Parts: sequence; C-alpha cells; structure tokens
Amino acid sequence: MADHFLVTGAQGFIGALIVKDLLEAGIPVTVFDLDTTPRRLRLVATDDQIARATFVHGDVTDLPSVEATVVAHSITRIIHLAGLQIPACRADPLLGARVNVLGTLALFEAARRHADQVQRIVYASSIAVIGPEEAYTGPVTDDARLLPKTHYGVFKQANEGNALVYWLENKVSSIGLRPYTVYGAGRDAGFTSAPTKAIKAAVAGRPYTIGYVGPNDMLYVDDCARAFIGCAQVPFQGAEVFNISGVMVTIEEFIAELERVIPEAKGLVRCQGKPIAISPHLDDSRLRRLVPDLPRTPLRQGIAETVAIFRRLQREGRLDLSDLSG
Ligand SMILES: NC(=O)c1ccc[n+]([C@@H]2O[C@H](COP(=O)([O-])OP(=O)(O)OC[C@H]3O[C@@H](n4cnc5c(N)ncnc54)[C@H](O)[C@@H]3O)[C@@H](O)[C@H]2O)c1
Repeated sequence: MADHFLVTGAQGFIGALIVKDLLEAGIPVTVFDLDTTPRRLRLVATDDQIARATFVHGDVTDLPSVEATVVAHSITRIIHLAGLQIPACRADPLLGARVNVLGTLALFEAARRHADQVQRIVYASSIAVIGPEEAYTGPVTDDARLLPKTHYGVFKQANEGNALVYWLENKVSSIGLRPYTVYGAGRDAGFTSAPTKAIKAAVAGRPYTIGYVGPNDMLYVDDCARAFIGCAQVPFQGAEVFNISGVMVTIEEFIAELERVIPEAKGLVRCQGKPIAISPHLDDSRLRRLVPDLPRTPLRQGIAETVAIFRRLQREGRLDLSDLSG
C-alpha cells in the first residue's frame, strides 16, 4: 500500500514544516487540525505545495472524525502533534487533558481499529516529562525517572504510558519524541517560544525580554521535522520514546549568538527570571542510532536561516508581530 501520512496539528509550527517536507518528497499528506487557516504553512511552503495537501477540519478528541479520516484517505502513517501547550493546559487543565490525553487516545484507537492499514504512530511527547538537573546524575537517558512539574508534562507522561499499553495489548507500533525548545519561523506560541520571538524582534528592531535565563536545549525546526518523518518511515516494531536534542546553550549565549547574526540588534534582547527547572543535558543517542544521519543544525545557522525567513516576510509586508506583545 502506498504511504499516505496523516499529520494532526499540522497547521501548527512543527506540523507546517513536516507537511512541507512530505510534500517536497512527493508523499501524500492529510492535514488534520481545528484551525483552518494555513497561516504557518504559508511561511514555509509555496502555494503550489499547499494545494497538493488534503485538508480536514477536525478535532482530535472526536474519534469518529479521526477514524473517518483514517479510512477516507487510506492513512498508513500518523504523525500526531495536535495539542495544547503549557500555558493553555495551566489555564484550563480539564481542556488540556481532553485534548492532550483523550485526543492522543483517539489517534491510537483509530490506529488499533485499522491495524491492517496504519503501520505507525509518531507522536509529540515533550521534555516536560523530565525533572530538574539535580534529579539526575549525568545526561538524561530515555529511560530516566520521569518527574513532570506541569499538567502538560503529566499529560505527556500519560500518553507515553498509553502508547506502551497499546503496543502490549494491541501491537500498535509507536514512537514518541521529547523535544525541549524547538525554534524557527512559525513558533509563535508556548512557553519556550521566547527565543524565536526574540529573533523576530531583533529583525524588526524592537526590544524583547525573554522571561527566563540559563541553560536549555534548542532544536532547529528543520531537524525536528526530519526526526518525526524519519521515525515514521524507519523499519520498527514496538513502543519507544526518545529524547531529541539539538544544541545545549544558555539563553545568555543564545542572545550573544543572535547579536553576532544581527549586529545592529545589540542590546535589544535581554533575559530575566529563573532558569527552566528541566535538565538541559539530554542523551539522544538511541534515537540517532535508530534514525541515522539526523541533522543537528548549529545554533548560528538555525538563527541565520530563521532571520532570513523573517526578513523575506518583512520585505513581502507579511511579518506578523502580534505575538511579540503577548
Ligand atoms: N514547539 C516546541 O518547542 C515543543 C516542544 C516539545 C513538545 N512539543 C509538542 O509538539 C507538538 C507540536 O508543537 P507546536 O509547537 O507545533 O504546537 P502549535 O501550538 O504551534 O500547534 C498545535 C496545533 O494543534 C492544533 N490543535 C489544538 N487542539 C486541537 C484539537 N483539539 N484538534 C485538532 N487540532 C488541534 C492547533 O490548532 C495547532 O495548529 C505539540 O504536541 C507540543 O506539545 C512542542
């Protein structure tokens, strides 16, 4: 059966890049999202590319709608990204659980019901399942003790557990990935969106303050998209969860690098507050063994490529600065 990907949350930041990459590779893709506007897709994909995707307006908590989509489009591989981020889960934990946990269960249930067709689910977990640096000796491995400190992290932990149960009881194959801070054009929401907003502010010549300091792991969105697609395609049976690491830097070093890329922005971006209470030392060697040749874009290159996209949007009069005031 020829592959047809279903990407949930595909109107989001990471989803848009994944959809663009799949379309570039000539792989059919169905975009499933509550949001009907390809706002982020238009930042990274051409109109011709976007026209080749199939769009379904749907809610991942609605199992009949998810299942009907899997059947109608002969879906063979699912990349499940739809979800609410830390601030939204904190503001409304019941809604957060409905979307992030029940929504993920709906995808697994649809895959179980159509096991002859769906080969794999790759889903976004998060480094929010991990605790602070002092809770671990050395880099955090995939099997490290989970110590989530937010509802969001607890929901992601539940998804990892449910994925394992779907493998043990129903042989639904899945891979969960745990990014820390993903950055790049289109990242306009969520707690760790601040570095991307800082890049945008620097391009626009505006001051911006990142609300935390200290170390974090920064993964360029192109690398993140490659990892999700690679995990969906690699020969594999089971239920695994992998850390995925980019470059470990402090926010202070990130600002210095941004100023090297845009010297005229010197002094515009600052940081203040506390460090993020999640260990930034991640061991992602198991993922990189399973999917060889995953890129690890250097920070300066990732910033420079993001700056180039924002400058192009600025020239085209469509650099949206509304997220900077939020
Ligand atoms: N961006 C990061 O740094 C990061 C880090 C770790 C994990 N993640 C996870 O990766 C995934 C994608 O992140 P992102 O930054 O692209 O998020 P995003 O907020 O940009 O996109 C999420 C998408 O999900 C959609 N959505 C929300 N509720 C839905 C529902 N009920 N039904 C259908 N669609 C719905 C939204 O409309 C949006 O398009 C999320 O699950 C997130 O928790 C992201």
